[in-house]
Amino acid sequence: MKTAVIIDCDPGVDDAIALLLAFGSRLPLLGITTVAGNVPLALTYSNARKICALAGRLDIPVLAGCPRPLLKPLATAEDIHGASGLQGADLPEPATPIWVQHSVDFLIEQLLKATRPITIAALGPLTNLAVALIKCPQIAQKIEQLVIMGGSMGQGNITPSAEFNMYVDPHAAQVVFTADIPIVLITLDTTHQVLTTPERLAAIRAIDNSVSRAAAGMLSFYGQSDLARYGLPGGPLHDPCVIAYLLAPELFTTRTVKVMIETAAEHTTGRTVVDWYGSSEGSSIQVVETVDAEGIYRLLSEAFSAFEDFE
Ligand code: BDR
Ligand code: CA
Repeated sequence: MKTAVIIDCDPGVDDAIALLLAFGSRLPLLGITTVAGNVPLALTYSNARKICALAGRLDIPVLAGCPRPLLKPLATAEDIHGASGLQGADLPEPATPIWVQHSVDFLIEQLLKATRPITIAALGPLTNLAVALIKCPQIAQKIEQLVIMGGSMGQGNITPSAEFNMYVDPHAAQVVFTADIPIVLITLDTTHQVLTTPERLAAIRAIDNSVSRAAAGMLSFYGQSDLARYGLPGGPLHDPCVIAYLLAPELFTTRTVKVMIETAAEHTTGRTVVDWYGSSEGSSIQVVETVDAEGIYRLLSEAFSAFEDFE
């Protein structure tokens, strides 16, 4: 039996694609917790519910979580994801059930009551996880692995130094990275190799069911800013890499490194300082070193093909 998974996210186009990959691949999901990030919390929460409705997964608990980072004001990314967070897909207001529990309390409750350790996929700022760890530190022992999309060893994407998820809440990242949890980190260095080229986008569109049409619509919009900014042929699929890692870790290689989070510096706040040779004081984690991008698009194509057409 595969380990049960909780996805903590801030949809966001690539978060939405990650959720659809998880659904279409039948990842054993306990719930989806949402946090403020790409757009404010009210939108990340309702976007997660919209994606569940699109996939016909009304059974999955979706919880709202922290509306702002621990110490910094919230920074959002509407330039990448559109004002709604899911630009390019016109999804109706969801009729999925409302779960009143807070994401932080859901994480704590699920972890405490689990008889087998749980895997957490972190696709946004780490605020919910940090608050859960502060409120109930013993949950750390119940986390089998925490796979995080965040950080950069080269260029950042929100500042020259920092990747968005780490920049939005570096203090939360600091709490999580020092909590003695087995962490796998997937940085921009990896995700910028997993690009939605025009050919891959056409292949997703050609599946031609309601999920693939919505995904293709979102990915066409999402790719535009990366084309303009980096000259990339399409948007990097950051968050789906986390789900792909859980489904098919053989598509990746990792390396044990030390990592420290910069929390208070004028030019480098949110920087993941990675010591490739492991000689410094930072926390020991696994960082992804290589990725099979074609393999990830194969997983996506299989997952999207598994959906029935609801329209
Ligand atoms: C990360 O930031 C967000 O905009 C994406 O959803 C992803 O989680 C990439 O830096
Ligand atoms: Ca995200």
